[in-house]
Amino acid sequence: MVIFSGIQPTGTKHLGNYIGAITQYVAAQERGNPAIFCIVDLHAITVEYDPQQLREKTYDTAALLIAAGLDPEGCILFRQSDVHEHTELCWLLVAVTAVGELNRMHQFRDKSVQQRQLVSAGLLLYPVLQAADVLAYQADEVPVGEDQREHLELMRDIAERFNGRFGPVLTVPKQRIPDVGARVRDLQEPERKMSTTGGTEQGTVYVLDEPAAISRKFKRAVTDSGTDIVRRDDKPGITNLIEVMAVARGITPDAVEAEYAGGRYGDFKKATAEAVVDYLEPVRERYTDLRADESALEAMLQAGAAKARVIASATLADVCDAMGVGPRSS
Ligand code: TYM
Repeated sequence: MVIFSGIQPTGTKHLGNYIGAITQYVAAQERGNPAIFCIVDLHAITVEYDPQQLREKTYDTAALLIAAGLDPEGCILFRQSDVHEHTELCWLLVAVTAVGELNRMHQFRDKSVQQRQLVSAGLLLYPVLQAADVLAYQADEVPVGEDQREHLELMRDIAERFNGRFGPVLTVPKQRIPDVGARVRDLQEPERKMSTTGGTEQGTVYVLDEPAAISRKFKRAVTDSGTDIVRRDDKPGITNLIEVMAVARGITPDAVEAEYAGGRYGDFKKATAEAVVDYLEPVRERYTDLRADESALEAMLQAGAAKARVIASATLADVCDAMGVGPRSS
């Protein structure tokens, strides 16, 4: 089974990215044949960004993914802009994408209102490039967090429409959204997801935060009225902490509830902080060493891109052939 996922090199990666996506990538290495992970720098330019920082952030993200457990020998890890087939396929897929669908995407709507200077056409086309990322590899499965559900549905529609119009060329992928931790919430505003752009600073736990910062953020986490430590719709703060602790300790949310039944919120927040510190500490330590060697990271990304290109160029040739673009294949 081919597994593919992408991650933006923008911002600083947080516990939501880590639990919702990165841990799934690490697990996917066992099942994927191949497992392919792409640092999507071309998606990052669809909103305001700093060109000086984009390359740096790409290395930051590569180092973080390896520190988290991706093995460049056991998967394909590369930078999107190194494989030009993504942008070419994106253009070809716009032919089977309805502008109305793009306009309705929640992420497009949310991000549009955040832009002060310009709402770029790139922001509108973002999901088509995302579809190209996945479809170029004929991926069967895409591990993502809950917020990507809509983009995945659109991607499936694009693939199905393409196959209906031009013949069965593209694999229609399935999303893989984890049962626990698919939507980690902001610790200060638990009705919102933890996010680099829309969240609160004190409510966002970064993967590379120092233990003291992690403890402080959990200590100040907003909890709900009442005293029960249980998952319930009217208790988004406590529900979030239960899920985070479960993932950090590798146990079920039911086991967390059983352990803390009758406990106090304050103690529970402290214990959650300790679990998260233990969970992230080894990643932070490995990251520091890996990030120090930029040329090794660049060499690794180049080696990944060479492997990715072999697969993506074969798909692109089939797509062009089916669409009547370019010379007839022999
Ligand atoms: P990005 O970098 O914004 O997010 C990376 C992954 O983190 C997940 N995520 C979360 N999961 C749980 N709780 C949260 N609070 C949380 N916040 C973020 C996201 O669901 C995502 O899986 N559009 C993608 C990048 C992309 C992509 C692709 C993904 C580009 N091409 C192809 C899959 C396949 C994104 O938003 O990345």
